[in-house]
Amino acid sequence: MFATGDTELAATPPMGWNSWNAFSCDVTEGDIRTAADQLVETGLRDAGYEYLVVDDCWMADGVDDEGRLQPHPDDFPSGIESLAEYVHGKGLKFGIYSSAGTRTCQGLPASLGRERLHARQFADWGVDYLKYDNCGDHGSNDAIARYSAMGNALAEVDRDIVYSICEWGRNEPWRWGRNAGGHLWRATHDIVAKWTTDEQEFGLGIVDIIDQMHERGMDPHQGPGGWNDPDMLQIGNGPDSGQSKLEDVDVDRALTPAEERTHFSFWCLFGAPLMAGNDLAAMDDWTRELLTNEDAIAIDQDPLGIQGTRDGVLEETEVWSKRLAGEECAVILFNRGESTTDIETTVETVDMPVDAATYTVRDVWNDEVRETDGQLHATVDPHDVAMFRVIPE
Ligand code: GLA
Repeated sequence: MFATGDTELAATPPMGWNSWNAFSCDVTEGDIRTAADQLVETGLRDAGYEYLVVDDCWMADGVDDEGRLQPHPDDFPSGIESLAEYVHGKGLKFGIYSSAGTRTCQGLPASLGRERLHARQFADWGVDYLKYDNCGDHGSNDAIARYSAMGNALAEVDRDIVYSICEWGRNEPWRWGRNAGGHLWRATHDIVAKWTTDEQEFGLGIVDIIDQMHERGMDPHQGPGGWNDPDMLQIGNGPDSGQSKLEDVDVDRALTPAEERTHFSFWCLFGAPLMAGNDLAAMDDWTRELLTNEDAIAIDQDPLGIQGTRDGVLEETEVWSKRLAGEECAVILFNRGESTTDIETTVETVDMPVDAATYTVRDVWNDEVRETDGQLHATVDPHDVAMFRVIPE
């Protein structure tokens, strides 16, 4: 189990938006201002998406005389402090990116050996969230040393900064992320906007990540203040999104609506950080409705902070569940196969802590409410889910 630490920050999984999946290295301060406006206008902020994070490529290719990071002169001409002010003015929090190596993944200056200087710089700029990547030369330092150095530096500044460790799950960061000062830690490699990827291909698809989140045995390590992070959302993205167009990424079609619903449902069942990653100015109604579903978000943000797990497998169908506060339970019936299938289970199979004569079943995705004496079932399309909140009466 996890050590006690600061659980007020990130008491529930952080929610927000990050620039990488939509804009990759082409991001500009204009994109960030637009994203801030859009988070408000589309209702995402009010649904809980609070942290607006600029990922790699905000910095110039050189540090100042003291070693401080500089904003890119053409793409971020107004500087980071004024950008953070703009974001704060919209009732949002502002996040930034660096790496625990000499360079970022795009080859720009990063923070190894300059952690205290950069932490102070971020605090002075009004930064509320740091995503800290794993690229560049590590010298002779192991991951725990590199991530703890920044965690300690952030703890010394006079500002609350959520610390997002992005070590890709290489060294089981769920075991040491909290002690390194982290509030969330990437548990898996980079997500791409695909259902699944081949082994030799860059990144992981949705179903690959779902499997790894279960199979790597990380769930006991998560809870308030420290979250296993299956990476940012790819909902609303496709072959034309920034990350999809990178040289080593190969996205030939968008996720289907069923696959997107499965993606969002599982991230909520995991109690995962929900960082949207789509171009908000081009968001359609389907994507907005998916990202703002109140019942799904309530399952994600449940105060117990339990990561849901797999309870049973029958051929291509699976039953997953997550214990919720108030002796309730969230259930996913998942069809990973290629034909529509009936899936059945009972409250005895899932993580329902009490035995009752009757349960209310609220369907997250179609608003139906029904009563059951314990049977749970749905007809589920290929790559799709049914998701319920089950409440004992
Ligand atoms: C790594 C991270 C991604 C993103 C890119 C930026 O691949 O895992 O999430 O931040 O770097 O270059």
